[in-house]
Amino acid sequence: MLLLWRVLQFYGRFFLSFTAIGHSVRSLLWKALEADFTGQTWLVTGASGGIGKAVALAAAHAGARVIIAGRSAEKLEAVVREAGPDLDITAETADLSLMREVATLVDRLAGQKIDVLVNNVGVLLNRHSLTDEGHETSFATNILGHYLLTEKLLEAGSLGPGSAVINMSSGGMHNAPLVLEPMNAMTPERFNGVAAYAMHKRAMAVLTDHWQAQHGELRFYLTHPGWVDTDGVKTSLPTFRKLLKWVLRDADQGADTALWLAARRPEPKPETVWFDRAARPAHAFKRTRASKHAPVDLVAFLDGATRKRR
Ligand SMILES: NC(=O)c1ccc[n+]([C@@H]2O[C@H](COP(=O)([O-])OP(=O)(O)OC[C@H]3O[C@@H](n4cnc5c(N)ncnc54)[C@H](OP(=O)(O)O)[C@@H]3O)[C@@H](O)[C@H]2O)c1
Repeated sequence: MLLLWRVLQFYGRFFLSFTAIGHSVRSLLWKALEADFTGQTWLVTGASGGIGKAVALAAAHAGARVIIAGRSAEKLEAVVREAGPDLDITAETADLSLMREVATLVDRLAGQKIDVLVNNVGVLLNRHSLTDEGHETSFATNILGHYLLTEKLLEAGSLGPGSAVINMSSGGMHNAPLVLEPMNAMTPERFNGVAAYAMHKRAMAVLTDHWQAQHGELRFYLTHPGWVDTDGVKTSLPTFRKLLKWVLRDADQGADTALWLAARRPEPKPETVWFDRAARPAHAFKRTRASKHAPVDLVAFLDGATRKRR
């Protein structure tokens, strides 16, 4: 009964806002972005498809040199081909759920300044699996890999003063407070893909504020793309997609706020998620504030999980 109430509460609150309806209404008030990213280097994770690909192509069209990271060399090459010779897009193959591949990716990027990092890759898995490094796969993909990637790029000086880090969140985070161990379920019995995804996205919100507090010379943003019709949604949420396909956003609409943040660089605000070009509360419901853990606990937990790879 409680679950049904929460589902109704969630969809009642967000249906119009997160769909293309919300985007169409809000965008009536927007000026054209007209971004110029000439001279900038971007790194976009999970850019072999979906929203990441849309961000990467739009940034390259606006003059950026864009490094696209994904686990499928073929899909990355297809994006490079689609971009054509006039856009500066380079592919880096890396499975971002594997910490050793994250570490070698950072090594390959040594000496390059990253102006904009888009921590985009994210998966909602309906089946439990562990990576060969012993992490639950969605935990490793959605939060741990991005934690390690960002920390290592900071350590290496690739991310520095003036860089922006844009973390891709989800409305799902409004369903979870910050938790630690349950994010990384070791057995199928303890795993619920939707709940795990929400926990990872909540952790990303906490991490964004933590990084901003630690590194005031950079800008860290948490953003939500809205509900977007991508391959990820097709695979992970087939019923959701079947019911809502007619109002889902397209990938360019999903990419809009990330591009806007990179272009406008608004003053970061704690406990907010940037959505449709505005800062909105990171807690929509009181229950997600009820966390027993602090950001330092989260960082210690993630450090513990990555230690063997650092
Ligand atoms: N779509 C939505 O409605 C929605 C809503 C809220 C938030 N988001 C968030 O937006 C982000 C992008 O979502 P999306 O819908 O565009 O996802 P998507 O369609 O699944 O695209 C993600 C891309 O990441 C790649 N990828 C997956 N696992 C990877 C890994 N371990 N290492 C490297 N690359 C990997 C995928 O390539 P493969 O083909 O190899 O799998 C795919 O090209 C995610 O963080 C998601 O949580 C999306």
